[in-house]
Amino acid sequence: IRVLFATSEVYPLVKTGGLADVSASLPEALCRLEYDVQILLPGYPDALKAARKAGSRRKSRFQVGQYSVSLWQTRLPGTAVTLWLVDCPPLFDRPGNPYKNEEGQDWWDNAHRFELFARVGAMMATGEAGITWQPDLVHCNDWQTGLLPVFLEPYQDRPGTVFTIHNLAYQGVFSHETFRALGLPDSLWRLEQLEFYGQLSFIKGGLVFSDRITTVSPGYAREIQSPEFGCGLDGLLRYRQSVLTGILNGIDSRVWNPETDPELAFHYGRDHLKNKAQCKARLQQELGLEVNGDPLLGFIGRLVEQKGVDWLITVMPELLQRGCQFVILGSGEARFEEPLKLLARQWPGKMSLTLGYNEGLSHRITAGCDLFLMPSRFEPCGLNQMYSLRYGTLPVVHGVGGLSDTVNDPLEVGVDRANGFRFGEPNAPALLAAIDRALKGLGKRKQWRRLQSNGMAIDYSWNQRARDYGDLYQSILKERHYQLQ
Ligand code: ADP
Ligand code: GLC
Repeated sequence: IRVLFATSEVYPLVKTGGLADVSASLPEALCRLEYDVQILLPGYPDALKAARKAGSRRKSRFQVGQYSVSLWQTRLPGTAVTLWLVDCPPLFDRPGNPYKNEEGQDWWDNAHRFELFARVGAMMATGEAGITWQPDLVHCNDWQTGLLPVFLEPYQDRPGTVFTIHNLAYQGVFSHETFRALGLPDSLWRLEQLEFYGQLSFIKGGLVFSDRITTVSPGYAREIQSPEFGCGLDGLLRYRQSVLTGILNGIDSRVWNPETDPELAFHYGRDHLKNKAQCKARLQQELGLEVNGDPLLGFIGRLVEQKGVDWLITVMPELLQRGCQFVILGSGEARFEEPLKLLARQWPGKMSLTLGYNEGLSHRITAGCDLFLMPSRFEPCGLNQMYSLRYGTLPVVHGVGGLSDTVNDPLEVGVDRANGFRFGEPNAPALLAAIDRALKGLGKRKQWRRLQSNGMAIDYSWNQRARDYGDLYQSILKERHYQLQ
């Protein structure tokens, strides 16, 4: 089965979040299962640079509206996976964040950029892009690829389509003028199609026109059908319930392995945890924290509302007072960065803040902390709790989406089956109460070991989960086959 996997970010070429990790590791896992999955990515400067360096070449060149577009064929660095780059300098030759300018504002022409990206994907899928490879299926991801199934719809013998929701909160909503400027047919301006409260919604394209919809955990698949988590699209998702499923993300378990992780000075595993304490001491040293046995609590992620950073900021002073240490790595909105900076100034030796993106440090935090905090308001899947579970660092999470699918609390399942701590109420006191329970647990060595060991025993790899996607692909093709007969 040939699959075109269209995505706006892929690790290690361009990454703003977990979508990039998944866009690299899922296609790779599917290729290992003998699926011919090829990735399609906008031709960002770093990606094209890597392609040129690898000696790759342009495979075709054609016109899309006013733009001259080239397709480059290369490989995703470090893998055998084929990667296609949509080279269109006026739209994609911009350094830095793929969606925003240096001031942090969305690029003014994002609708045009991702409309063109989707159009090229559709052209590849229908054999109009001047290359011989043609997919049986197109797998789209998030709003940036939402128009692709729309463009394929008119073709009777089009490939099958899957749309994966990584985050329903980002929808690609633009004005009616933009809808007109893109030259989309008027027939699409309907509530049942792309119109969303008087505006154009890219994500609706994916949700309305795809053969199947998936999201990145079973929990989130249920949640998004409710008004509370549905971001205004729960009605549509309930309507399409029969084609909507949740498949939990996997992690790259070779990159995230405490036994071999090259970012760590000391290695450890499930039945030899001793060196974990060394990782903690080394991390405290590296970040200028007091090197001692105080509980060390970590957070890594985008500093945005979704991640519950405000609840975290609320509970930190009290926990610092009680002798906890904190290590925070992330970047995002000033309204969260500023209070964190203040706390770091007030608590030298107790609280470390690193603003920015740092891959190596993220591994050392995952290994060195006692607790890993993810108080997300909502979390489609979340990767960090799985990383920390694998590293014997117990997660404290808000019980939503993928977090509730991966973290089990002793209060609910008993110590024998638990691997972390969960809170239910969406507020700071509930977070504090869960951290308190965790800190008490930290004192009970044997039980703590049990929880660590339970978490470390679970298989978080893509093996089974990629098979689930494979089964889904097969069922779509079967269904399309009948439809065409
Ligand atoms: P989301 O996609 O919502 O941001 P995920 O948990 O799915 O959340 O994925 C986030 C990914 O980005 C993880 O791989 C995490 O380690 C990484 N990450 C986020 N912020 C940083 C940072 N400041 N430095 C290093 N890695 C980060
Ligand atoms: C999104 C979600 C996150 C998920 C990631 C990869 O960014 O916020 O929960 O893990 O996509 O699917």
